[in-house]
This record gives sequence, C-alpha cells and structure tokens, in this order.
Amino acid sequence: MICFLIAFAAFGCTEVLQKGRDNWNQPLWRQLKGASWLFSSPDGFWRFANNDLELAEHLGHIQSSEPHAGKLPHQVLQWQHHDGSAWYNDRGIKVTTSPNDFEAFCRSEDAEEHSSLWLVAPRFPQLQGEYRKQETRKERGQPVWRQVSGEGWIFSTNKGRWFISDTEEGIANNRGVLASTTQHNGSAPYQIDQWQFLSQGSWQSDQTIFLTEKQAEAQRRVAEQQREAVKRTDRAPDKVWILCQPKPHLQGEYVKQPARIERGQAVWRQLGGNGILYSNGLGGFWCVATKEADVQKNLGLLQCSTPHYGRPPHEMESWQFADGNTWRVHKNVRGELKEPNGRPFTRLMRPSQIGYNRVMYGNV
Ligand SMILES: *[C@@H]1O[C@H](CO)[C@@H](O)[C@H](O)[C@H]1NC(C)=O
Repeated sequence: MICFLIAFAAFGCTEVLQKGRDNWNQPLWRQLKGASWLFSSPDGFWRFANNDLELAEHLGHIQSSEPHAGKLPHQVLQWQHHDGSAWYNDRGIKVTTSPNDFEAFCRSEDAEEHSSLWLVAPRFPQLQGEYRKQETRKERGQPVWRQVSGEGWIFSTNKGRWFISDTEEGIANNRGVLASTTQHNGSAPYQIDQWQFLSQGSWQSDQTIFLTEKQAEAQRRVAEQQREAVKRTDRAPDKVWILCQPKPHLQGEYVKQPARIERGQAVWRQLGGNGILYSNGLGGFWCVATKEADVQKNLGLLQCSTPHYGRPPHEMESWQFADGNTWRVHKNVRGELKEPNGRPFTRLMRPSQIGYNRVMYGNV
C-alpha cells in the first residue's frame, strides 16, 4: 500500500510541493522529504520518478493506469506499479490532496497488512483453512500465501487474477483449481467476491467459495457447513443401486454408512463387495472407489460427469468410468483440458424406482 499526499501551492502544505510547470505546461510536484517527482509523461500519464535522473528520462515505477486527459493526479481513480517486467493495476496506490484522507489511509494500510487468510470452499475441503503470507516472496508483483496445513497456494497469475492451486508448480504455470472470476486490479484476495472452480476443463462460478481475513467469520461458515452436512446426510437415501456393466464388480446394492460424513456428504458401501460411493474433494463429484485410501486421495473407478451441486447420486444423469489401466481423477478434474475417458452409461436408482434389471438392460 502506498499513499501520496499532494499539495497545491495555494494550500501551502506538506508531502509533495508544487514546483511550477514543466515544458508541456503541466504542474510538477516534488517530494518534500525525499527526491521523488510527480510529473506528466510526454504520452500523458501521471508518473512518479524516484529522482532527478528518472525525471529527465520521464521514467518511473508508478503511474496512472490511463493517460490523464487533463485530470489532476488526485482525480485519477486507478494507478499501476511496475515490478521490473510489467505494469500491474494496484488499488493500493492512492493520491489525495486531503491530509485527513492521507492519515486515514496510512492507518488502514496498517490494518490491511493481513498475514493470514482463511479459505472456505466446501467443494475443495483439502484446500480449506488458513493461508499465511510468504513474507519475502512476490510473484508478478503480488504477495503469495501458503496453506498452513495443506498443499494450497494463493497467487496472482500473469493475467492478473487470483488463483488457488494445490501445488507450488501452479504458481509458475499459472494453473490452479480456484480463481477470481475477474482480474483483481490490485485488490487483495479477501476483497474478491466472485470465485470460480475448474471442473474438467471449464470454469464454473461458485458462490460457496469465500476468502476472508477474519478467522471468526471463516469458522462460523465452516460450522454452518457442518450443520448443513448433518442434515443433508440424514436426508440422503439409505440404499442406492449401481448398474454398470463395464465394472461388474461395482454393481449392486450400496448401503449408507451410519453417521459417516465425507466432505459434507453421505458415504455408501457396497453390500457383499468393496465399493465405496462417496463425494470427492475435487469439485464435488460422486465417485466409486474400492479402497478407503482412494477415498482419501479422491480416486475412483466411476464418477458422475458433472459436479453434483448437492444432488444425491441417484439424481445424476450422466456417469463415466475409468478406462484403461488407471484413471487419475485427480489430474483430470484439476484441469487437464482433456475429458476423462468414459461415456455416460451408469444409473443409480432408489429402491422404490423401477426394476433393477430393466434399467440395466435399457442403458447398457
Ligand atoms: C477489474 O477491472 C475490470 C475491467 O475494468 C473489471 O471488469 C473487473 O470487475 C475489476 N475487478 C475487480 C475485482 O474489481
């Protein structure tokens, strides 16, 4: 955060003092306790030079985002900073003529130096929780936060969006699973209202993603989520049937596990088999695995083709199965642009719905 107080000669005040006019008849300010200048560049931007040399060359690291077209510096709404390679819009830069605003801004700047952020993202439980700012690290001119008890990272992309990735490589590659829906223009991640998640190669907006600098608010929301999860799990059907000819060992009756909640959803186990039907933590897909370890790793042999958005498994129209040697759901869901192998073919049915055999033969 940077704030500049500029003063006109008539106001007779403080930080930056007017020093007449430049060759283009634009006003020019000089820092009162320092060597910086605020000037109008030949191409019509307000720009801050660090010293006389930069001023002579019309150089600077902070400038108005657009040519000022006759507006004075304190009338400019958007500023940008240069990090050595590119310009970035930066809401943290303010120019004012009011000493009161200046002081208020300096105070709020201290308050806004949040070193921890909390993410609430019910579809990505492993990414939820506290993120701590990396004190010395900047990427693309912006700070980077790292998840305290997980693999998550919050960073700014080349195109100026906030991204949340589940690997550190995501930072270099501009890849992630959650993203701000617009460019941030220098707003901090917790000031972003609209988030989206990547689901099999396309971005889906998600009102349940919430990032805050207030721990209590995050905890309140997570507690609310847990209460909802208990209700949802109670409402879920006690039994569902899976029909899936390519994976015959996964077919049959699945029984809801009492009092078990995974990622906010019920879990069912196959009667007389190893199948576990659960909601994965990579966007909220119903998924069938055969080992508890795979449930934890978000792996499976079957899954619904779209996120369930809270709908129970038997209401999902389209499913897909792992084909070939392995199906790395994790990779596919995370945003390889390719669809996972598979085709819709599976139906899950409530016991009250029409006969098992008829549906099976009707769909295969
Ligand atoms: C950033 O600027 C763009 C273009 O002006 C705008 O569409 C977008 O909403 C802004 N983003 C935020 C977070 O305000």
